Amino acid sequence: MNTYLLFKSIHLIAVISWMAGLLYLPRIFVYHSEAILNNKSEDLTSTFKVMERRLFIYIMNPAMIVSWIFGVLLIYTIGLDNFGLLWTQLKLVFVIILTIYHIFLFQCLRKFAENTNSFSPKFYRIINEIPTVLLIGIILVIVFKPL
Ligand code: HEM
Repeated sequence: MNTYLLFKSIHLIAVISWMAGLLYLPRIFVYHSEAILNNKSEDLTSTFKVMERRLFIYIMNPAMIVSWIFGVLLIYTIGLDNFGLLWTQLKLVFVIILTIYHIFLFQCLRKFAENTNSFSPKFYRIINEIPTVLLIGIILVIVFKPL
């Protein structure tokens, strides 16, 4: 059994699930904040709260943790000296920003849960592009592996 390939497969499955959540959660926030603005029923906003919480707890958090664990295991597998390479450092910077974004989304989720959301639907539409930009950066860095 090739451990490196096994770790990489698990890493990729986790990373895809994490990205799916990072792209989908702010989209729910757009609809949720629009529903609040338009004074929609309590039933609808409660449904959004359940969707947000389940997505975050059951998909995004585990996926992020597994991405990190197997990413770090991959670093050990291919050798710590890879940290000296620009592409590894760049990827790490992008991934740290992605993790900060993940934590920020959790804070937004908590505000929605407490009915104290202060951001507009437009704000959530704009921040929804952040993971897309980071994803493009990460993939380009990984594929081209600049010196
Ligand atoms: C969470 C922290 C992360 C760490 C520590 C990490 C680290 C790594 C390492 C060390 C490799 C092996 C590279 C090689 O074999 O040359 C790898 C592979 C890969 N990672 Fe990550 N990664 C992380 C997150 C991500 C994210 C968020 C994405 C995508 C959005 C991603 C996409 C990939 C891809 C596509 C590969 C396969 C590259 C190849 O086979 O050439 N990783 N990762």
